[in-house]
Amino acid sequence: MDLEAVMEAARNAAMNAYAPYSNFQVGAAIVTERGALYAGCNVENASYGLGICAERSAAVAMALADPGDREIRLVAVASPNAAPCFPCGACRQFLREFGCKAVVVEDPSEPSGLRSYPFGEILPHSFGPEVL
Ligand code: THU
Repeated sequence: MDLEAVMEAARNAAMNAYAPYSNFQVGAAIVTERGALYAGCNVENASYGLGICAERSAAVAMALADPGDREIRLVAVASPNAAPCFPCGACRQFLREFGCKAVVVEDPSEPSGLRSYPFGEILPHSFGPEVL
């Protein structure tokens, strides 16, 4: 899989972020186990707590598009404001729900400019749907 192409989708999504309050634009691109790609951006709100992160908006797009393909192979996250930009704690749990295997972030210290983390490092000892 071309991780750079997936990250480019995340960068493009960040350009559509609605972040007038924080001015922190984030884009995410999810690749499912069947190879579909879903992008999302953060969307803030005048009632600050209602804003949604890029990762969760991508996961919602995935859930809506195809109930038969909701296993997340990886998510790439990009922000023009920060590299690397890691998913927040809430998003880690949200991605966990759909079996996310890896998180890819921009990392200027890497030759490829990208770094991939196994999801178990991002959210160790996690709580998930199989417990219920
Ligand atoms: N944000 C994301 O969309 N994803 C992240 O990984 C970190 C934070 C958003 C939430 C808020 O709109 C803005 O970035 C600043 O926290």
